[in-house]
Amino acid sequence: MLFSLLIRVLTLTVVFSAAMPTSSDETPCWSYGGDDHRCTQPWRPSKRFGMFHRSPVAMTSSSFKSRTCKNANCVPPARSPCPALNALANEGLLPRSGRNITIAQTVAAFSTGLNFAADVITSFAATAIAQCSNITNTTCTSFDLDMLNVPHAAEHDGSLSREDFNFGRGNNHDFSPRVWAQVMDYWGDAEIIDFALAEGARRMRFRTANETDLPGWFVPKTMQSLGETSFYMAAFGDPVLGNARKDWVHYWFSQERLPFALGWKPTQRAEITGASMAAMIAKMIAA
Ligand code: HEM
Repeated sequence: MLFSLLIRVLTLTVVFSAAMPTSSDETPCWSYGGDDHRCTQPWRPSKRFGMFHRSPVAMTSSSFKSRTCKNANCVPPARSPCPALNALANEGLLPRSGRNITIAQTVAAFSTGLNFAADVITSFAATAIAQCSNITNTTCTSFDLDMLNVPHAAEHDGSLSREDFNFGRGNNHDFSPRVWAQVMDYWGDAEIIDFALAEGARRMRFRTANETDLPGWFVPKTMQSLGETSFYMAAFGDPVLGNARKDWVHYWFSQERLPFALGWKPTQRAEITGASMAAMIAKMIAA
């Protein structure tokens, strides 16, 4: 029940009415060489986003471009405000370019990389594709990760590891050490994140964002953020008990890689299903 409510809330949030003229006839002009994402082909303007040429928010991500591009002409890979999608792209389980991702690819990547069941992922991937359709005003069958950057669509304020759109001067999607430090400070010396610590951090970030955003900007998407917190608790702890290992959570958020190097495995706990997520959200609310 709660889980279906969460899905509905997330689905509604992605309704974005930027009807921009587009053309879908272009061949992608990006390609990257291995782990360092080096661009090997020259950049030419994308028509997919009409007047924006590139995604409305990716245009502002100069820091990501300088980290990932070795020459002036390249287009950086697309990345999103979601640490899970970014990590899967960085691990090569999703296309490293972060572009043209289908539902089937998303379901397979989350299954292999994080042991999530298809019932959880399919509807979220469908909302990402709906967001592509809204942005491009075409019928999409795939999405680019940076399409999720549109503020107040699937993206929201008070994130655990991202600046709000206003505070970040348009960058609401790159990992922010400044924001994440607030969460790590809140957790202090704890090595295990239980429901109370997870929910406390989530509320603290909502409070801080509300107090520091431009007046009238903050929109609390509580159900969605509860879902995201439940996701990382299950992935790096247990789908029933929570109790995520903080070093794994920290590595995943800050490196946007899966924490294999710290001994984590996708199968260190049971498969994560819609039912287990619904139950965890209820525990989080009660914490
Ligand atoms: C197709 C599936 C998914 C889509 C489309 C998606 C999309 C998103 C989006 C748009 C955000 C940004 C919300 C914000 O503004 O903070 C986000 C955040 C987040 N996602 Fe995902 N997500 C997906 C699956 C997952 C999964 C399976 C996990 C589990 C590990 C996950 C973990 C998170 C977390 C923890 C955040 C919060 C980041 C923060 O607060 O800094 N996501 N996701």
